[in-house]
Amino acid sequence: MGDLLLRILEAHQGRFVSGEEIGRRMGTSRAAVWKQVRTLRRRGFGVEGARGAGYRLLGRPDVIEETDVLSRLSSRSFWKSFTFLPVTDSTNSRAAEGAEKGAPHGTIVCADAQTGGRGRFDRRWESPPGVNLYLSLLLRPPVESRRAPQFTLVAAVALAKAVEEVAKIPARLKWPNDLYVAGKKAAGILAEMSTDADRLRHVVIGIGLNVNSEESHFPGVLSRSATSLRLATGRTFRRAEVLARFLDHFAESYRDFLSGGMTVLLPEWNRRSLLAGKRVMVRCPDGEMWGTAKGMDEEGMLLFRADGAKGEKRLHSGEIVQFER
Ligand code: BTN
Repeated sequence: MGDLLLRILEAHQGRFVSGEEIGRRMGTSRAAVWKQVRTLRRRGFGVEGARGAGYRLLGRPDVIEETDVLSRLSSRSFWKSFTFLPVTDSTNSRAAEGAEKGAPHGTIVCADAQTGGRGRFDRRWESPPGVNLYLSLLLRPPVESRRAPQFTLVAAVALAKAVEEVAKIPARLKWPNDLYVAGKKAAGILAEMSTDADRLRHVVIGIGLNVNSEESHFPGVLSRSATSLRLATGRTFRRAEVLARFLDHFAESYRDFLSGGMTVLLPEWNRRSLLAGKRVMVRCPDGEMWGTAKGMDEEGMLLFRADGAKGEKRLHSGEIVQFER
């Protein structure tokens, strides 16, 4: 029924059509028409309603289509499978499931919306439909499992490059997995791996990038710390284009990483570091402490000098809970 309404609005090519006429053509009441209008809006269509005039179609949702994404790629041969889901609980869970069933290295799982999007420390990742990117990459890299966390950093550099290219604003990286624009978090990365003794069986790298979300998409206090490319620039972006730019940069960074380790990527990461030289509070297995962040080392560990301590610590995991701006 929603599609019939869409066809009627489309046939009027941006001109108003009265609720009464729509109801007649659909064989429903005006109240039912109003319900269908709301459904179309939830799907991302811009439908304007004006008292006395009716409804008109203003904009279509930004859909992500496989052929559109693939045709924009220069790294086509790197990627072996692309699945797009209108909605799923978590693309990381779908990719891990695929991995257990033998899905190949270079598998991409992308969703328009997630009902159980996951962040680090079991936090929820807001995943409304039609506006952002939620995707997971399945990789089977020939490296020891201790190096798996480094893939978060590979993805972070690729994401920063893609954001800078399409949005034309600087991207900053906050160790270990956040991307900031205009002083707020716009993306997060969640890497999950499966190991077999010391061998890495696979790693799933989940990326959530707020592309076109508006403030109303961030519940409660989140709008103080979270942003999107649209909020930071005042422009909207085609998600397929942002995705393709990221996938190209990822394929390139991944190859650099396999051939030369962190040597090429480290300067790229450190020059975008949000924290280098700043006072930060770290929460790690030993507790919480204040100190100064020094940057990242070859193994992707954060170099950190705790207040009052003589030497530097290397942190392999943890969270920066506060930092000076
Ligand atoms: C974080 O900042 O804590 C990481 C957020 C990662 C979110 C992405 S969205 C796609 C993928 N699927 C998930 O459930 N999580 C990641």
